[in-house]
Amino acid sequence: MYQIPNTPLPSFQKLLGAFLNNSKINHTDLNKYWAGQKDLGLWLSRSSFSMRLLAKLRIQESEKDTINIWFPGYFCNESLEPLKKEKVNIYFYPLLKDGSPDIEACKKLIDSQNTPDLFIAVHFFGREINFSESSEFAKSLNAWFIEDAAHVLKRSENIGKYSHFIFYSPHKILPIADGSILVVNKDNFVEDFNDLSQKLIILHQSLIKEDKKINFHPTIWLIKRILQKIGFKRKVKNQIEIFDHDEINNKPCTWNIEISSLSKRLLMLENNLEDEIDTRKRNYNFWKIFFIDNNFDGEEIFSDNLTICPYLFGITLKDKEQLLMALSLLNLYSIPVSSWPDLPHEVYKEEGLYRHIIHLKKHTIFLPIHSSMNIKRIEDYLS
Ligand SMILES: Cc1ncc(COP(=O)(O)O)c(C=O)c1O
Repeated sequence: MYQIPNTPLPSFQKLLGAFLNNSKINHTDLNKYWAGQKDLGLWLSRSSFSMRLLAKLRIQESEKDTINIWFPGYFCNESLEPLKKEKVNIYFYPLLKDGSPDIEACKKLIDSQNTPDLFIAVHFFGREINFSESSEFAKSLNAWFIEDAAHVLKRSENIGKYSHFIFYSPHKILPIADGSILVVNKDNFVEDFNDLSQKLIILHQSLIKEDKKINFHPTIWLIKRILQKIGFKRKVKNQIEIFDHDEINNKPCTWNIEISSLSKRLLMLENNLEDEIDTRKRNYNFWKIFFIDNNFDGEEIFSDNLTICPYLFGITLKDKEQLLMALSLLNLYSIPVSSWPDLPHEVYKEEGLYRHIIHLKKHTIFLPIHSSMNIKRIEDYLS
C-alpha cells in the first residue's frame, strides 16, 4: 500500500547538486525569497533560535534585567525552550476565531508588570492574517512587533508588512535538514536600522559560537530521507491520545544553533517555488474534498484568511465522535496525521480564557500536503 512520507523528500538530483557545488554561498541569492534587498536576513537552524536571538537583542537594547514577551496561547510549548535560556517572562494572549490576536482581551490583560517588550503574532498555517491593529497596539507600548512566519513558505505583499522583525522556518516546508531566517524589516525602523542590524549580527555570531556541539542532525536527516526514498516505511497507527493529552513538552532542544551547510546548498537550488505552491494547493484541496465526500462535520482551521501557500491541511472536527471516526478511516488507509504538539501549561490553567484554543488542540487533525505526496496513488487505493 502506498504510504505518504511524513515529510517532504529531496530529489537525488538536488542532493547530488548540493554535494557537488563547492562554490561560496551568495547570501543575497540565498535570502531572495524571504528578505527584501534593503533588509537584513540572518540564518539559524530553527525559528526557536531566531526568537532567542531577538530576546538577546532586546535585553541588550532595553538595559532591563528581564524582558516581557507575549505569544498567542495557541503556541507550541516545545518551541519556547531555547528562549527560556534568556532572562524573559513569557505571557500568552487569546486569539479571535480567525487566528488574529484578540486585542480587546490583550488590553484587559495588560498591567504595569507585564507590558510587552516583544509582541509575537503568528501567520498560522501559511495564512495571511491582518496584523494592522495588533502592530498598532504593540507599537503604542514601545514593543517590537514580530511576525512569526514559521508556517509561511516565502514573503509576500502582506507578510512582513507591519513588523519590525519576521522569521520563517523553510525547514518545515522544503526538503532541507534545518533552516530559519530572521529578517529585520528596514521599512519599519525609523532611523536605527543600521545600528540595530550591526548589533544583531554580532549577537548572531556569538550565539552560534557558544554552541560547541558536533552537528549530527544533517547526517541523520539525510540517512532517514534516503531510507524513505528507497522504500522504508513505518506502520501508521494514528492514536487518539495525541489529541487528548495535556502533557507539556519540556524536552531540551538538541539541535545545533547554526544552519547546516547542506541546507544552505539545497536552498540555493530552489529556483522555482511556484511549483511547490501549486502542488501544496492541489494537495490541500484533495483533503478538503476527501472530508466533504466522507460527510465529516468540521471546519478548516483559520480559513477566513487568504493563503498563498498552505503549510498543512487542518480540520477541526465538531466533537470527539467525529474525530474518532476520522482517525479510524485514516488508519484504514495508513494516512499519517498529526495534532498540534502541545500547549503551554498557562493556557490549560486559564480554561475560561482559552476554551477555543483548547478545543482546537483537542479536535484538529493535520494532514500532510507536501510535494512528495502522490495524490494519484492515494486516489488509486481509495477508489
Ligand atoms: C507558529 C510557530 N512558530 C515557531 C515555531 C518554531 O519553529 P522551529 O521548528 O523552526 O523552531 C513553531 C514550531 O512548530 C511554530 O509552530
